Amino acid sequence: MNILVTGGYGQLGRELEKLAVCSHEHQWFFTDVDTLDITDPDAVERCFSEHRIGVCINCAAYTAVDKAEDEPEIAARVNTLAPQILAKTCLKHNALLIQISTDYVFDGNGTSPYQVDDPVNPQSVYGSTKAEGERLIRESDCKYMIVRTAWLYSTTGKNFVKTMLMLGDTKDEINVVNDQRGCPTWAHDLAAALVALLNRNGEEPVHETFHFTNEGNITWYDFACAIMELGGKTCKVNPITTDQYPTKAKRPAYSVLDLSKIKEYADMKIPFWRESLVKCILEINS
Ligand SMILES: NC(=O)c1ccc[n+]([C@@H]2O[C@H](COP(=O)([O-])OP(=O)(O)OC[C@H]3O[C@@H](n4cnc5c(N)ncnc54)[C@H](OP(=O)(O)O)[C@@H]3O)[C@@H](O)[C@H]2O)c1
Repeated sequence: MNILVTGGYGQLGRELEKLAVCSHEHQWFFTDVDTLDITDPDAVERCFSEHRIGVCINCAAYTAVDKAEDEPEIAARVNTLAPQILAKTCLKHNALLIQISTDYVFDGNGTSPYQVDDPVNPQSVYGSTKAEGERLIRESDCKYMIVRTAWLYSTTGKNFVKTMLMLGDTKDEINVVNDQRGCPTWAHDLAAALVALLNRNGEEPVHETFHFTNEGNITWYDFACAIMELGGKTCKVNPITTDQYPTKAKRPAYSVLDLSKIKEYADMKIPFWRESLVKCILEINS
Protein backbone atom coordinates (compact mmCIF):
# COMPACT_ATOMS: atom_id res chain seq x y z
CA MET A 1 0.00 0.00 0.00
CA ASN A 2 1.25 3.50 -0.82
CA ILE A 3 0.59 5.79 2.14
CA LEU A 4 0.68 9.58 1.98
CA VAL A 5 1.31 11.45 5.23
CA THR A 6 0.51 15.17 5.13
CA GLY A 7 1.78 17.58 7.78
CA GLY A 8 4.74 15.24 8.14
CA TYR A 9 6.94 17.74 10.03
CA GLY A 10 4.40 18.03 12.86
CA GLN A 11 4.40 16.10 16.13
CA LEU A 12 2.30 13.21 14.83
CA GLY A 13 3.90 13.18 11.38
CA ARG A 14 7.37 12.79 12.90
CA GLU A 15 6.23 9.88 15.07
CA LEU A 16 4.67 8.15 12.07
CA GLU A 17 7.94 8.62 10.21
CA LYS A 18 9.82 6.79 12.99
CA LEU A 19 7.38 3.84 12.74
CA ALA A 20 7.45 3.85 8.93
CA VAL A 21 11.14 2.98 8.98
CA CYS A 22 10.19 -0.40 10.50
CA SER A 23 7.09 -0.94 8.35
CA HIS A 24 8.24 -2.77 5.24
CA GLU A 25 4.79 -3.80 4.02
CA HIS A 26 3.89 -0.24 2.97
CA GLN A 27 5.54 2.49 0.95
CA TRP A 28 5.35 5.80 2.78
CA PHE A 29 5.39 9.33 1.31
CA PHE A 30 5.95 12.06 3.89
CA THR A 31 5.05 15.63 2.91
CA ASP A 32 4.53 18.98 4.61
CA VAL A 33 3.39 22.38 3.37
CA ASP A 34 6.67 22.99 1.50
CA THR A 35 6.23 19.84 -0.61
CA LEU A 36 2.45 19.41 -0.58
CA ASP A 37 0.13 22.25 0.40
CA ILE A 38 -3.11 20.39 1.08
CA THR A 39 -5.18 23.52 0.34
CA ASP A 40 -4.07 23.24 -3.32
CA PRO A 41 -6.37 20.71 -5.06
CA ASP A 42 -4.15 20.40 -8.17
CA ALA A 43 -1.07 19.64 -6.10
CA VAL A 44 -3.01 17.04 -4.10
CA GLU A 45 -4.32 15.41 -7.29
CA ARG A 46 -0.80 15.30 -8.80
CA CYS A 47 0.60 13.68 -5.68
CA PHE A 48 -2.14 10.99 -5.57
CA SER A 49 -1.71 10.19 -9.29
CA GLU A 50 2.08 10.18 -9.29
CA HIS A 51 2.43 7.94 -6.22
CA ARG A 52 -0.74 5.85 -6.67
CA ILE A 53 -1.81 6.71 -3.12
CA GLY A 54 -4.06 4.15 -1.42
CA VAL A 55 -4.18 5.73 2.05
CA CYS A 56 -3.79 9.36 3.11
CA ILE A 57 -3.11 10.11 6.78
CA ASN A 58 -3.87 13.79 7.21
CA CYS A 59 -1.72 15.06 10.07
CA ALA A 60 -1.65 18.59 8.64
CA ALA A 61 -3.67 21.16 10.54
CA TYR A 62 -3.82 24.73 11.74
CA THR A 63 -3.20 23.96 15.42
CA ALA A 64 -2.57 27.42 16.95
CA VAL A 65 -5.78 27.41 19.02
CA ASP A 66 -5.68 31.03 20.28
CA LYS A 67 -4.28 32.52 17.05
CA ALA A 68 -7.14 30.86 15.14
CA GLU A 69 -9.55 33.26 16.86
CA ASP A 70 -7.84 36.10 14.93
CA GLU A 71 -7.26 34.11 11.73
CA PRO A 72 -10.50 32.17 11.18
CA GLU A 73 -10.16 32.16 7.38
CA ILE A 74 -6.66 30.67 7.42
CA ALA A 75 -7.71 28.10 10.05
CA ALA A 76 -10.74 27.17 7.94
CA ARG A 77 -8.65 26.73 4.78
CA VAL A 78 -6.38 24.19 6.46
CA ASN A 79 -8.85 22.50 8.85
CA THR A 80 -12.04 22.52 6.74
CA LEU A 81 -11.35 23.17 3.05
CA ALA A 82 -8.24 20.97 2.83
CA PRO A 83 -9.90 17.85 4.36
CA GLN A 84 -12.68 18.33 1.79
CA ILE A 85 -10.07 18.45 -1.00
CA LEU A 86 -8.41 15.32 0.38
CA ALA A 87 -11.79 13.57 0.67
CA LYS A 88 -12.70 14.36 -2.96
CA THR A 89 -9.29 13.17 -4.15
CA CYS A 90 -9.54 10.00 -2.05
CA LEU A 91 -12.98 9.30 -3.51
CA LYS A 92 -11.64 9.70 -7.04
CA HIS A 93 -8.69 7.37 -6.34
CA ASN A 94 -10.67 4.95 -4.15
CA ALA A 95 -8.21 5.73 -1.36
CA LEU A 96 -8.82 5.69 2.40
CA LEU A 97 -8.59 9.02 4.24
CA ILE A 98 -7.48 8.93 7.86
CA GLN A 99 -8.30 12.34 9.30
CA ILE A 100 -7.00 13.40 12.70
CA SER A 101 -9.44 15.48 14.70
CA THR A 102 -9.75 16.85 18.19
CA ASP A 103 -11.55 16.78 21.54
CA TYR A 104 -12.21 20.52 20.94
CA VAL A 105 -15.17 19.55 18.73
CA PHE A 106 -17.04 18.99 22.04
CA ASP A 107 -18.25 21.78 24.29
CA GLY A 108 -16.72 20.35 27.44
CA ASN A 109 -19.92 20.54 29.49
CA GLY A 110 -20.06 16.74 29.84
CA THR A 111 -19.31 14.81 33.00
CA SER A 112 -18.67 11.35 31.53
CA PRO A 113 -16.36 10.38 28.65
CA TYR A 114 -17.53 11.56 25.22
CA GLN A 115 -18.67 8.75 22.92
CA VAL A 116 -17.69 8.86 19.24
CA ASP A 117 -21.24 9.68 18.13
CA ASP A 118 -22.04 12.29 20.80
CA PRO A 119 -23.14 15.59 19.22
CA VAL A 120 -20.37 18.08 18.60
CA ASN A 121 -20.65 21.66 19.82
CA PRO A 122 -17.29 23.40 19.38
CA GLN A 123 -16.60 26.52 21.41
CA SER A 124 -13.61 27.91 19.49
CA VAL A 125 -12.63 28.72 15.90
CA TYR A 126 -10.13 25.84 15.95
CA GLY A 127 -12.78 23.39 17.20
CA SER A 128 -15.39 24.66 14.72
CA THR A 129 -13.06 24.40 11.73
CA LYS A 130 -12.04 20.85 12.72
CA ALA A 131 -15.69 19.83 13.26
CA GLU A 132 -16.59 21.22 9.82
CA GLY A 133 -13.68 19.28 8.31
CA GLU A 134 -15.09 16.10 9.88
CA ARG A 135 -18.58 16.85 8.54
CA LEU A 136 -17.41 17.42 4.98
CA ILE A 137 -15.43 14.18 5.02
CA ARG A 138 -18.48 12.23 6.23
CA GLU A 139 -20.60 13.81 3.49
CA SER A 140 -18.05 13.10 0.76
CA ASP A 141 -18.69 9.37 0.23
CA CYS A 142 -14.97 8.64 0.40
CA LYS A 143 -13.64 5.81 2.59
CA TYR A 144 -12.59 7.44 5.84
CA MET A 145 -11.58 6.97 9.43
CA ILE A 146 -11.75 10.05 11.64
CA VAL A 147 -9.57 9.70 14.73
CA ARG A 148 -10.08 12.32 17.44
CA THR A 149 -7.29 12.84 19.91
CA ALA A 150 -6.39 15.32 22.66
CA TRP A 151 -3.55 17.06 24.53
CA LEU A 152 -0.91 15.76 22.11
CA TYR A 153 2.78 15.96 23.03
CA SER A 154 6.05 14.58 21.72
CA THR A 155 9.77 15.25 21.69
CA THR A 156 9.35 17.65 18.74
CA GLY A 157 7.41 20.85 18.14
CA LYS A 158 5.69 23.09 20.67
CA ASN A 159 3.70 21.29 23.33
CA PHE A 160 2.76 21.44 27.01
CA VAL A 161 5.40 18.93 28.15
CA LYS A 162 8.27 20.81 26.53
CA THR A 163 6.94 24.16 27.75
CA MET A 164 6.70 22.88 31.35
CA LEU A 165 10.23 21.41 31.22
CA MET A 166 11.54 24.75 29.93
CA LEU A 167 9.65 26.67 32.65
CA GLY A 168 10.99 24.17 35.18
CA ASP A 169 14.49 25.31 34.24
CA THR A 170 13.74 29.03 34.33
CA LYS A 171 11.05 29.65 37.01
CA ASP A 172 10.77 28.91 40.74
CA GLU A 173 6.99 28.89 40.67
CA ILE A 174 4.21 28.72 38.03
CA ASN A 175 0.40 28.76 38.00
CA VAL A 176 -1.51 26.11 36.02
CA VAL A 177 -5.26 25.65 35.57
CA ASN A 178 -6.81 22.91 37.65
CA ASP A 179 -10.40 22.98 36.38
CA GLN A 180 -9.92 21.65 32.85
CA ARG A 181 -9.83 17.87 32.66
CA GLY A 182 -8.64 15.84 29.68
CA CYS A 183 -6.41 13.07 28.42
CA PRO A 184 -2.74 13.64 27.60
CA THR A 185 -1.63 11.71 24.52
CA TRP A 186 1.92 10.82 23.50
CA ALA A 187 2.06 11.27 19.72
CA HIS A 188 4.11 8.06 19.51
CA ASP A 189 1.17 6.05 20.94
CA LEU A 190 -1.28 7.70 18.55
CA ALA A 191 1.00 6.92 15.60
CA ALA A 192 1.18 3.26 16.70
CA ALA A 193 -2.62 3.16 16.99
CA LEU A 194 -3.00 4.53 13.46
CA VAL A 195 -0.69 1.84 12.12
CA ALA A 196 -2.71 -0.79 14.03
CA LEU A 197 -5.93 0.59 12.51
CA LEU A 198 -4.38 0.54 9.06
CA ASN A 199 -3.43 -3.08 9.43
CA ARG A 200 -7.12 -3.87 9.96
CA ASN A 201 -8.07 -1.98 6.78
CA GLY A 202 -9.84 -4.24 4.32
CA GLU A 203 -11.20 -6.51 7.05
CA GLU A 204 -13.74 -4.08 8.47
CA PRO A 205 -16.08 -1.48 7.04
CA VAL A 206 -14.66 2.03 6.85
CA HIS A 207 -16.70 5.23 7.42
CA GLU A 208 -15.85 5.14 11.12
CA THR A 209 -15.01 7.65 13.83
CA PHE A 210 -12.68 6.72 16.67
CA HIS A 211 -11.24 8.32 19.80
CA PHE A 212 -7.63 7.77 20.79
CA THR A 213 -5.85 9.23 23.81
CA ASN A 214 -3.71 7.69 26.51
CA GLU A 215 -5.66 6.02 29.32
CA GLY A 216 -6.65 8.01 32.39
CA ASN A 217 -7.67 11.63 32.75
CA ILE A 218 -6.20 14.53 34.69
CA THR A 219 -6.17 18.33 34.87
CA TRP A 220 -3.47 20.52 33.34
CA TYR A 221 -2.27 21.16 36.92
CA ASP A 222 -1.91 17.40 37.58
CA PHE A 223 -0.09 17.08 34.26
CA ALA A 224 2.29 19.95 35.07
CA CYS A 225 3.09 18.45 38.52
CA ALA A 226 3.89 15.07 36.93
CA ILE A 227 6.10 16.68 34.27
CA MET A 228 8.07 18.62 36.91
CA GLU A 229 8.45 15.49 39.06
CA LEU A 230 9.49 13.16 36.23
CA GLY A 231 11.69 15.83 34.66
CA GLY A 232 13.50 16.33 37.98
CA LYS A 233 12.48 20.03 38.26
CA THR A 234 12.01 21.76 41.60
CA CYS A 235 9.68 24.46 40.22
CA LYS A 236 6.54 24.80 42.39
CA VAL A 237 3.20 24.41 40.57
CA ASN A 238 0.19 26.32 41.95
CA PRO A 239 -3.37 25.31 40.97
CA ILE A 240 -5.51 28.12 39.54
CA THR A 241 -8.92 28.38 37.85
CA THR A 242 -9.63 29.06 34.18
CA ASP A 243 -10.97 32.51 35.19
CA GLN A 244 -7.52 33.33 36.55
CA TYR A 245 -5.87 32.41 33.23
CA PRO A 246 -7.93 33.98 30.43
CA THR A 247 -7.18 32.82 26.87
CA LYS A 248 -8.54 34.01 23.52
CA ALA A 249 -10.05 30.64 22.67
CA LYS A 250 -12.42 28.93 25.10
CA ARG A 251 -11.17 25.47 26.17
CA PRO A 252 -13.50 22.60 27.10
CA ALA A 253 -13.67 22.11 30.88
CA TYR A 254 -14.12 18.37 30.44
CA SER A 255 -12.87 16.68 27.29
CA VAL A 256 -12.34 13.07 28.27
CA LEU A 257 -12.85 10.79 25.25
CA ASP A 258 -14.26 7.28 25.49
CA LEU A 259 -11.75 4.82 24.03
CA SER A 260 -13.75 1.59 23.91
CA LYS A 261 -14.37 1.59 20.15
CA ILE A 262 -10.75 1.83 19.06
CA LYS A 263 -9.65 -0.71 21.69
CA GLU A 264 -12.15 -3.22 20.36
CA TYR A 265 -11.64 -2.47 16.68
CA ALA A 266 -7.84 -2.51 16.66
CA ASP A 267 -7.57 -5.03 19.50
CA MET A 268 -5.12 -2.81 21.37
CA LYS A 269 -4.11 -2.07 24.93
CA ILE A 270 -3.60 1.66 25.39
CA PRO A 271 -0.85 2.82 27.77
CA PHE A 272 -1.74 5.01 30.77
CA TRP A 273 -0.75 8.66 30.43
CA ARG A 274 1.95 8.51 33.11
CA GLU A 275 3.66 5.46 31.61
CA SER A 276 3.93 7.24 28.25
CA LEU A 277 4.98 10.54 29.82
CA VAL A 278 7.90 8.74 31.50
CA LYS A 279 9.02 7.39 28.10
CA CYS A 280 8.69 10.73 26.33
CA ILE A 281 10.64 12.61 29.01
CA LEU A 282 13.35 9.94 28.88
CA GLU A 283 13.54 10.48 25.12
CA ILE A 284 13.66 14.29 25.51
CA ASN A 285 16.51 13.95 28.04
CA SER A 286 18.46 11.38 26.01
N1 LIG B 1 -1.50 19.30 19.27
C1 LIG B 1 -2.55 18.90 20.00
O1 LIG B 1 -2.60 19.04 21.23
C2 LIG B 1 -3.73 18.26 19.32
C3 LIG B 1 -4.84 17.90 20.09
C4 LIG B 1 -5.92 17.30 19.46
C5 LIG B 1 -5.90 17.04 18.11
N2 LIG B 1 -4.81 17.41 17.38
C6 LIG B 1 -4.82 17.13 15.94
O2 LIG B 1 -3.81 16.18 15.69
C7 LIG B 1 -3.26 16.41 14.39
C8 LIG B 1 -1.75 16.47 14.48
O3 LIG B 1 -1.41 17.53 15.37
P1 LIG B 1 0.11 17.96 15.61
O4 LIG B 1 0.19 18.45 17.01
O5 LIG B 1 1.03 16.90 15.11
O6 LIG B 1 0.17 19.22 14.65
P2 LIG B 1 1.44 20.14 14.33
O7 LIG B 1 2.61 19.69 15.11
O8 LIG B 1 0.97 21.55 14.42
O9 LIG B 1 1.72 19.76 12.80
C9 LIG B 1 0.87 20.16 11.77
C10 LIG B 1 1.69 20.25 10.52
O10 LIG B 1 0.83 20.61 9.44
C11 LIG B 1 1.52 21.56 8.65
N3 LIG B 1 0.61 22.33 7.80
C12 LIG B 1 -0.06 23.48 8.09
N4 LIG B 1 -0.73 23.90 7.00
C13 LIG B 1 -0.49 23.01 6.01
C14 LIG B 1 -0.88 22.93 4.65
N5 LIG B 1 -1.68 23.86 4.09
N6 LIG B 1 -0.46 21.88 3.91
C15 LIG B 1 0.37 20.95 4.46
N7 LIG B 1 0.80 20.99 5.74
C16 LIG B 1 0.36 22.01 6.52
C17 LIG B 1 2.20 22.42 9.68
O11 LIG B 1 3.18 23.24 9.10
P3 LIG B 1 3.50 24.68 9.82
O12 LIG B 1 4.03 24.34 11.17
O13 LIG B 1 4.51 25.27 8.89
O14 LIG B 1 2.19 25.41 9.87
C18 LIG B 1 2.77 21.35 10.61
O15 LIG B 1 4.00 20.85 10.15
C19 LIG B 1 -3.94 17.66 13.85
O16 LIG B 1 -5.02 17.28 13.04
C20 LIG B 1 -4.47 18.34 15.10
O17 LIG B 1 -5.63 19.12 14.81
C21 LIG B 1 -3.72 17.99 17.95
